Amino acid sequence: MKGIILAGGKATRLRPLTLITSKQLLPVYNKPMIFYPLFTLLRAGIREILIIISPEYAGHFMRLLGSGKQFNAKFTYEIQEYPRGLADAFIIGEDFIDNGNVAMILGDNIFADDLSQDIKNFIKGGMVFAKYVNDPERYGVVDFDANGRALSIEEKPKNPKSNYCVTGLYVYDQQVIEIAKNLKPSARGELEITDINNFYLQKGQLEVKVIKNNWFDAGTFDSLLKASNWVAENQSLWEEFQS
Ligand code: G1P
Repeated sequence: MKGIILAGGKATRLRPLTLITSKQLLPVYNKPMIFYPLFTLLRAGIREILIIISPEYAGHFMRLLGSGKQFNAKFTYEIQEYPRGLADAFIIGEDFIDNGNVAMILGDNIFADDLSQDIKNFIKGGMVFAKYVNDPERYGVVDFDANGRALSIEEKPKNPKSNYCVTGLYVYDQQVIEIAKNLKPSARGELEITDINNFYLQKGQLEVKVIKNNWFDAGTFDSLLKASNWVAENQSLWEEFQS
């Protein structure tokens, strides 16, 4: 299994902070934000990781993360010239993925859960992780039937059908490259990861796992603050990565 961290984008919601650096380099308590999704992949035994970054601060990412040696991993970098949407990661990453399975995580997503077993047990199709939230309209929203089977996924719906959002960790087989290449941009002009998930869902190949512990998308001022406070209070979760 290879890994991708998507850390592109302009993060206009976090201006003026993001006028001088990238969102994923901002501190979450005592570490740069990108460390947390990186730890999620490393914990699952993923060692080959592609980091997709925007051109403006590419050098800062390389200075922080280097070759990956200090993490016992191997990092590759690709530039995303324009923020074309999350699904663009699989087009940019085509050569890197090279017909294998891939776990893609967003550079601003912080998971308390250890998802290693789920990732290691993945064989084919797609797998996503859903979390109960109070503000589902901010996210991709999945609703379930009475047996807990996923019915539909909608991107930022005005009237969400459930409180379960799709978090920013996506595990797919190699089909994802062709699926991504055939996507049409959405009304907001992006290649939507939700369209990839719906493709797998309609083929009966999407597994949706509900996570129980805390999860943050640290892309707004409030969630960034909440994530920092929570990380400060839960340092033991990251103990294995302290050095
Ligand atoms: C993106 C996805 C959304 C997902 C969220 C998780 O939203 O489009 O489906 O629920 O990440 O963090 P964004 O953070 O780009 O608004």
